[in-house]
Amino acid sequence: METFLRGRDLVGDLDFSKEEVQKVLDFALDLKRQRAQGQSHPILRDKVLAMLFFFSSTRTRGSFEAGMAQLGGHAAFIESRTTQIAHGDTPKEIGVIFGRYFDGIAIRQVDWGTGNAYISAVAEASDVPVLNMQCDIYHPFQCLADLMTVIEKKGRDLRRKKMVVSWAYAASYQKPMSVPQSLILQMPRFGLDVVLAHPPEFKLMPEIMEQAREQAKKSGSGFEVVDDMDAAFKGADIVYAKSWGAMVHTQDEKEGAKIIGKYSSWITDERRMKLAKPDAIYMHPLPADRNIEVTDDVMDGPQSAVYDEAENRLHAQKAVMALTMS
Ligand code: CP
Repeated sequence: METFLRGRDLVGDLDFSKEEVQKVLDFALDLKRQRAQGQSHPILRDKVLAMLFFFSSTRTRGSFEAGMAQLGGHAAFIESRTTQIAHGDTPKEIGVIFGRYFDGIAIRQVDWGTGNAYISAVAEASDVPVLNMQCDIYHPFQCLADLMTVIEKKGRDLRRKKMVVSWAYAASYQKPMSVPQSLILQMPRFGLDVVLAHPPEFKLMPEIMEQAREQAKKSGSGFEVVDDMDAAFKGADIVYAKSWGAMVHTQDEKEGAKIIGKYSSWITDERRMKLAKPDAIYMHPLPADRNIEVTDDVMDGPQSAVYDEAENRLHAQKAVMALTMS
């Protein structure tokens, strides 16, 4: 087993260099092929991952748990409300104590202004790898699976390919901005020209925008911001349109919900997909507000890559777990 990531945390997308991400994805593709051929790969036999959730999940829990079992280990699902965290267990105590029980600690904590600080504090205290299963700032494993999917669909040479990361209307709740932030940090490193589209109130965090610009400049990729969904879709190779909250603009949830209501026309439908290239793919991390954020026709249509993205969570996470925890 290669050792270049042994013991490392993955909290933010830029924690791994571009070369390290490339090696992770090569390994993920290999694990995917092995699984399709029925080959077992018990790289983490006798190892146990703690999965600490402060927020609901379908894909993340399922894929980490299945992934650990397929690697010969075990994943312990720990729902935060069933722990003593509310009664005083600190992030340091979780990091030190879980670090003595488990071989890795994966955490989902998406509360605005809190999630990343919590995961970082656990990582600081722990001797074992800490893996970010989504926080208020980043969703690095979603992004690795997305990049793997883009490479499978569009090839390894992504230079001059246009990827739109667009805000979309959703009525259910103010979704975290971690997915678009991870995308704008990681995708330009691999040559994609990223166009970020959102109404004015849905700005991403200024420090993340600055880092995204730096990554694009360093890689010679494009990075542009527009406030028109139609203009953004024109000529796109990849359309990644999902909702996020107005947390940078206002911390007031009621005001945020009111602002979202102004932009119900920001939906991905067949008309908009026709603005993109004929072979463009549609991406979404799920869950989606169907027929509000995206129509069924697009989500279930031939351009949709959403099931491949969801599947690739499994393979990308297995690669990172094997490389960090073995
Ligand atoms: N995409 C994603 O993270 O899905 P879950 O919220 O269901 O884990």
